Amino acid sequence: MDLSGKKIVLAVTGSIAAYKTPELVRQMIKAGAEVRVITTSAAEKFVSPLSLATVSKHPVYSNVSDGAAWNNHVEMGRWADAMVIAPCSANTLAKMANGLCDSLVNAVYLSAICPVFVAPAMDEDMWLHQSTRNNILKIRSYGNHIIPVAHGELASGLVGEGRMAEPADIVAHLASFFANQGNKPLKGKKALVTAGPTYEKIDPVRFIGNFSSGKMGIAIAEALADKGAAVTLVLGPTHLQVFHANVNVVKVESANEMYDACMSVFGETDVAVLAAAVADYRPDQVADQKIKKQGDTLDIRLTKNKDILASLGGSKKAGQVLVGFALETTNELENAKGKLDAKNADMIVLNSLKDEGAGFGHDTNKITLVSRNNQQALPLQSKQEAAAAIVNYIVELQHAEKTV
Ligand code: CTP
Repeated sequence: MDLSGKKIVLAVTGSIAAYKTPELVRQMIKAGAEVRVITTSAAEKFVSPLSLATVSKHPVYSNVSDGAAWNNHVEMGRWADAMVIAPCSANTLAKMANGLCDSLVNAVYLSAICPVFVAPAMDEDMWLHQSTRNNILKIRSYGNHIIPVAHGELASGLVGEGRMAEPADIVAHLASFFANQGNKPLKGKKALVTAGPTYEKIDPVRFIGNFSSGKMGIAIAEALADKGAAVTLVLGPTHLQVFHANVNVVKVESANEMYDACMSVFGETDVAVLAAAVADYRPDQVADQKIKKQGDTLDIRLTKNKDILASLGGSKKAGQVLVGFALETTNELENAKGKLDAKNADMIVLNSLKDEGAGFGHDTNKITLVSRNNQQALPLQSKQEAAAAIVNYIVELQHAEKTV
């Protein structure tokens, strides 16, 4: 993770996650960055300015003026190569969305001419509130980069979405941004990604589904867009939101809808990554009315869904790169290689449920990239890092296709 020579303004706002910011500063500096820290007054209740000044080796400011001295927010906003607001509280987010300027952090934000990265942190109910949703969409539309929240224990004692991304993930996000700046090997390319579960209706109130969150596929869609691709993300039911300006989301519910959405764009697609956990079967009949409780057992007859990956593989033309996933519990490599051939894919991303921290629901994944003449086992890493690795490999495959 390289941030050599990068100048970063870190703005810390009032959230319990502020206690992680001295470590964030330390990791940014370790990656080669110069860091200046500003805070809101609420942040100082959670982290000491002295700690932040000590690790950053620069004074920490929180007011537009300190006595007779004016802290030049315009100078700071112009000095930085990136401004990172981490943690970003619901309050600061709302001010950013509406252009309020009652703190040094908001003044620097409004003065910044560099890219701005926002790592929100708040309780799940606040994170899911419609006004927060709107504010995130608004600041994204201004060109800010959103570093997704993580799932886990929250200050309220509840478990859910809303934790600030870990310092290592924030640094990885920045490093990937700078590495991709001016490096857009997929510019002009069109990509298709599937993500999330599918819901197969049983009756008007019930369905057959699975525990996929869509996180891995969303990370891949964003990583492809970071490399310059125009991405269509066909997304099954999930509460996760997608924040990248170059990602067009098509929401679907069932495997059939996902199939139709994919088939309609695949002809124009250069790269397709099918990360969705598609239900292999759907109920034969969907009841018009809610099925009433009757006997001690209930049989539901299932019919096989169309295999989207295999269908795209069947119509794949030269130059198109097709990537599938395989979630295996036994004979992993053998099964992954089998899927490569059976579905005419160019790569299979293998994850094993045996690996701790891998698979559904986690923020991390441990994958092996399996292509016809290569296989690459990667360490346990964040889903963003795994997505970047998959996309780098796709860029290599695209290049190989071109030079064949
Ligand atoms: N897939 C798909 N359409 C389906 C089923 C799966 O596009 N109807 C895709 C998944 O998105 C994934 C890959 O196929 O990229 C592997 O899915 P998986 O369920 O592991 O494989 P199956 O072929 O269904 O085999 P099995 O369940 O027997 O392992």
